[in-house]
Amino acid sequence: MNKNSCAVITGVAGFIGSNLADSLIKEGYKVIGIDNLSHGIKSQVPSEVEFYDLDIRSKDIYPLFREGDFVFHLAAISSISDCQKDPIEASDINITGAINVFEAAYQAGVKKVIYAETSALYEGIDVFPTSEMRIAPKSFYAFSKACENLFAEGYKNFRGLTMIGLRYFNVYGYRQDYRRTIPPVISSFIIKLLKKESPIIYGDGSKKRDFIYVDDVNDFHLLCLKDDRVNNKIFNLGSGESHSVLEVYEKIKEILKVDIKPIFQKDLEGDEIRKTLADITEAKKIGWTPKKNFTEGLEDMVRYIKAEIKKGNIV
Ligand SMILES: NC(=O)c1ccc[n+]([C@@H]2O[C@H](COP(=O)([O-])OP(=O)(O)OC[C@H]3O[C@@H](n4cnc5c(N)ncnc54)[C@H](O)[C@@H]3O)[C@@H](O)[C@H]2O)c1
Repeated sequence: MNKNSCAVITGVAGFIGSNLADSLIKEGYKVIGIDNLSHGIKSQVPSEVEFYDLDIRSKDIYPLFREGDFVFHLAAISSISDCQKDPIEASDINITGAINVFEAAYQAGVKKVIYAETSALYEGIDVFPTSEMRIAPKSFYAFSKACENLFAEGYKNFRGLTMIGLRYFNVYGYRQDYRRTIPPVISSFIIKLLKKESPIIYGDGSKKRDFIYVDDVNDFHLLCLKDDRVNNKIFNLGSGESHSVLEVYEKIKEILKVDIKPIFQKDLEGDEIRKTLADITEAKKIGWTPKKNFTEGLEDMVRYIKAEIKKGNIV
């Protein structure tokens, strides 16, 4: 079936989108990719992707969906601190942009829309592991994703569009965006330690996160296309394990065989949540299970960052 199937990916030049494009191409799908390159990088979009440098808020994206059987909507401002700084831009892209994508998908008559939600929707919940049953957003980023979730519900109920929401926990792996002002912990620790500098830990390091490897996430993406049991549902995509920031730091220090002390700074606004831990029962019911062991995942990340340094991409 995938020989003639086409997937449209928004945010294709970003971390998850570019990895997803690789997987879909390997599986024989045609991929049409949209990204305005505000955070994404053109060179990490696989050459086989039919790429369009467009903004998801533009009407120019509509014709691109006509050939699409499936849509992955990933484009967003994905950093909590960027959304805290500029809630207007966050809502414009993460809400209005998402609605424009849903409308384009609806008008084109695509089979399924798979869109990115986030574990940040559980910011106010302290029941662990956390199931998909209830959300309690607290930051501007999470508010914007909660609105996206409501509009997805509307497109399902009023337009009959098949919607699948993926609640990613902390995804890490190849092409994780280390260029951000405040990079995700794993990349930031590795980069600093390789440079023999002290990494910054925001808070006291006791915050725990559920880290999930990008290949595991991609396994679920592929299941979404092949298995209709996912239709009109929401899934947590995490590993079902939590690691504290300090634990991550210690593990990376061990892999790199260095002993450098971190610098502690106050928590970032909007990112104070103490713990995330996914209940992945629903995703497991579809036959998915995360395969990557956390230490092996960190070793892969070290190899990736070292290769980026060698290429001169990280100075
Ligand atoms: N990476 C994670 O751990 C994680 C966790 C939870 C949720 N998510 C969600 O998953 C999705 C993908 O995340 P990611 O880590 O790959 O993020 P990313 O920032 O690497 O990728 C997002 C891409 O969207 C593009 N984009 C932003 N605004 C756009 C616009 N107006 N028009 C067109 N393109 C635009 C950016 O240029 C970027 O390439 C996002 O929706 C994010 O909120 C990610």
